Amino acid sequence: MAKIVAGIATSHVPAIGVAMDKGNTATPYWEPLFRGYGPAREWLAKLKPDAAIIVFNDHASAFSLQLIPTFTIGVAERFPIADEGFGPRPVPEVRGYPDLAWHLAESLILDEFDMTIANEMPVDHGLTVPLSVTCGQPAQWPFPVIPLCVNVVQYPPPTGMRCFKLGRAIRRIVGEFAGDARVVIYGTGGMSHQLQGERAGLINRKFDTDFMDGLTRDPAALTRITHTEYMREAGSEGVEMVMWHVMRGALEDDVTEVYRHYHVPASNTAAGLIILENGSGA
Ligand code: DHB
Ligand code: FE
Repeated sequence: MAKIVAGIATSHVPAIGVAMDKGNTATPYWEPLFRGYGPAREWLAKLKPDAAIIVFNDHASAFSLQLIPTFTIGVAERFPIADEGFGPRPVPEVRGYPDLAWHLAESLILDEFDMTIANEMPVDHGLTVPLSVTCGQPAQWPFPVIPLCVNVVQYPPPTGMRCFKLGRAIRRIVGEFAGDARVVIYGTGGMSHQLQGERAGLINRKFDTDFMDGLTRDPAALTRITHTEYMREAGSEGVEMVMWHVMRGALEDDVTEVYRHYHVPASNTAAGLIILENGSGA
């Protein structure tokens, strides 16, 4: 039997990946951020999941404005690293998990989530930076990955509630898989950030903190946050946080927060990470 055993949410700021790739993580600017990733890496190395579902967004790397699927699932054997303008990041190719990915694709579509199926999909910093911050710099990623891509680039992205319901469906469908697998699910993107315009550099620590608190205690309330509210409170790219709801929906109602890290600034954004395990811990 397969089971989702835990969830991780993390920001995907590209400069964090560059700092790792260039060996700059111990500089005074970056050290406090990377110090906070240590416990998350230790936790994940100890958990040793068999696979990860990584809910992420593409930044016009695999898709362009010609094609904007709301939800895409990658069913390939492997996913190459996208060239985002400076050559692909020097990180391992991402191994897929076609058996579980096809099981998810089929059951999700029959469950009325109209997934786009990707047989080929280069993955950009939206997926590779979360892997880097949680796994470090191994020669191969320690587990196969099912990339689940959400449109948060072109209005309208799916609502938080839709994302949460997708997570709920994923939880059930993973449980129906014939194979054995302990699966971890990532929600990625966020936290508060705006990359352009008059409010560029916006950081809302209170919104980010309340969001992390709510994720554990009252995720249903968080799913009611509107797109306008994300943009007003967390900046235009803060809307990436809808992807965290997929992760939360895939966990049990009762979860325990086992770790949290929040740091400002990373580039001109806030970087957050939270780890949730199923069960109240009682
Ligand atoms: C930047 C890009 C992102 O996709 C993001 O989520 C945060 C920051 C950037 O270019 O700095
Ligand atoms: Fe982004």
